[in-house]
Amino acid sequence: MDHERVLVLIPTYDERENLPRIVRRVRAAVPAAEVLVVDDASPDGTGDVADGLARFDPQVHVLHRRGKEGLGAAYLAGFAWGLARGYDVLVEMDADGSHQPEQLPRLLHALADADVVLGSRWVAGGEVRNWPLHRQLLSRGGSAYTRWALGLRLRDATGGYRAYRRHVLEDLDLSRVASHGYCFQIDLAWRALRAGCHVVEVPITFVERTSGVSKMSGAIVRESLVRVTRWAVTERGAQLGRVARGEPARVRPGSAPRSRMPRLELDGAA
Ligand code: GDD
Ligand code: MN
Repeated sequence: MDHERVLVLIPTYDERENLPRIVRRVRAAVPAAEVLVVDDASPDGTGDVADGLARFDPQVHVLHRRGKEGLGAAYLAGFAWGLARGYDVLVEMDADGSHQPEQLPRLLHALADADVVLGSRWVAGGEVRNWPLHRQLLSRGGSAYTRWALGLRLRDATGGYRAYRRHVLEDLDLSRVASHGYCFQIDLAWRALRAGCHVVEVPITFVERTSGVSKMSGAIVRESLVRVTRWAVTERGAQLGRVARGEPARVRPGSAPRSRMPRLELDGAA
């Protein structure tokens, strides 16, 4: 992995206290990695804080966006920025300290035999600290529903600490991703699996933020529920059609990524 260029994308909305801490930790944990802060014109001035960090560190970059358009839109803009500049690995990380930069080497190491690595709270060795019960239930419930509805064998399909090889993002048609909120995460995991990518989960320690507030909302939960259900219905319909025509029920639609790894069944993710 040593020769590969790694870009850590950090989306921010009102994270002025958290941002300097997380950037410092990323730079210390993986000194070769570069950072891209994707700020949605935070009212609290996080964008100015980011500019200040970038001024003193050539490995820190800032993408200023016009306003709050949701996590999905911020990441899509960040991916386009990183792909255009030739990075080999693109990492997603929250700004609030919930994702430990010290565990990034673990994700990058796993990427040596994978196309996508998901930091997972709900596999052996993974954990969540200081989360209220309702957030634990929401996350576990959301993952369980997604597993059931889409037939995904991922334990933590909604998590936001991930590493992608650039070819995955190049091959998925990102212009067709419409998810705004946190269901963007499920959306990309689902697309990657359908494209035949090798998706691996590694345990992470998720620590609830101590500064600022979560941007999770009822609208974000509803969007996830509606979209996952719609994808599930579409997928079941396609399966029934294939069975009616005497074809195998499960095929992998979409283009094959230029992966060195063997392709997996739709429901056979590691
Ligand atoms: N640019 C931008 N625009 N950033 C945003 C936006 C937005 O509209 N909404 C949220 N963010 C940023 C936050 O500033 C933070 O850095 C990160 O996205 C995560 O937001 P939180 O609001 O802290 O998320 P959470 O802790 O409630 O949710 C966690 O669980 C979700 C569901 O599992 C995170 O791990 C999410 O990544 C995950 O999807
Ligand atoms: Mn958070």
